[in-house]
Amino acid sequence: MNVLVTGGAGYIGSHTVVELLEAGHQVIIVDDLSNAKVEVIGRIERITGKRPAFHQLDCGHKAGLRSVFQGDRVDAVIHFAGFKAVGESVKKPLQYYRNNLDSTLTLLEVMEEFGCKKLVFSSSATVYGPDNAHPYKESMPAIRSTSPYGWTKVMIERILTDYVTAHPEFCAVLLRYFNPIGAHDSGLLGDDPNGIPNNLMPYIARVAAGQLEKLTIFGGDYPTPDGTCLRDYLHVEDLAVGHLKALEYAGTHSGVEAVNLGTGNGISVLGLVHAFEKANGMALPYEIGPRRDGDLPAFWADASKAKELLGWEAVHTVDDMCRSAWKFAQMASK
Ligand code: UFG
Repeated sequence: MNVLVTGGAGYIGSHTVVELLEAGHQVIIVDDLSNAKVEVIGRIERITGKRPAFHQLDCGHKAGLRSVFQGDRVDAVIHFAGFKAVGESVKKPLQYYRNNLDSTLTLLEVMEEFGCKKLVFSSSATVYGPDNAHPYKESMPAIRSTSPYGWTKVMIERILTDYVTAHPEFCAVLLRYFNPIGAHDSGLLGDDPNGIPNNLMPYIARVAAGQLEKLTIFGGDYPTPDGTCLRDYLHVEDLAVGHLKALEYAGTHSGVEAVNLGTGNGISVLGLVHAFEKANGMALPYEIGPRRDGDLPAFWADASKAKELLGWEAVHTVDDMCRSAWKFAQMASK
């Protein structure tokens, strides 16, 4: 298949492009590089021996996107492009709504114009909001989030659902990610955010590399076994394979399906810190600080639908996640 990957130079996008190329698909990346580096394209080629087509373009730019579709037949799209920092979205809601919604609407309009009817969308467990009990199941209401970023995911899921109602021959798979961490086994691709990281694993990796002094654990008084928040961390390489499976599913089905991609297990912040220390043979300086606004105490996936519908399940261990994250951080800091 010819697969267009928006945001394909980013953290999850780049790992997915590697999986697609290794499975024999042709890949066209559209990425504006607002939160990714152009070197990633060369690294994808080093890993796979194949160079994906690359267009530096904001996918909300309709004329530009149309010319990409005119240049190559696009059989399916995996849509990652979007702003994703939860805290920043609270401060800049208009930018988040404009960017994430506009780019999706533009993409759908251009897909419709060119007769492309297969879409895999990068959604998030954040759509389950604060009201559902965990583990989260796809049958639960996913209609309320806790940040403008999260609301863009809720709204885009709604837009895609309404679009499929109007176009029943279309297939949209809404992949609800839990907490992706880790890096490509080669050490060439990983999570390398600009500035001080917001997410836990990149922060840990920079503390381990001596670039940040210590980790502050946000809250030690949650109603969890060790008082720190529980999340379902999954290896980004497993997540990438999940996209390949979703694409295969979309190739032979129509309709809209939401699918959780997680391991089904929760681990605490402190548990992950200790796993990182053990996997990489080091001690990490940390302190327990106040809670971070908007954090939920605990959530993890019911991962059974992914197995039944897509034949996917996570196979990497927490140890793999910690080792690969550290390998990448060491390469990135050179
Ligand atoms: N944490 C710390 N210290 C840090 C960073 C994070 O203690 O420096 C803690 C957080 O409080 C949280 C856990 O580590 O308990 C995980 O935090 P992340 O920021 O890595 O991830 P979140 O669970 O907050 O966010 C993730 C995704 C979002 C998504 C959200 C809800 O990054 O895209 O899950 O699904 F919206």
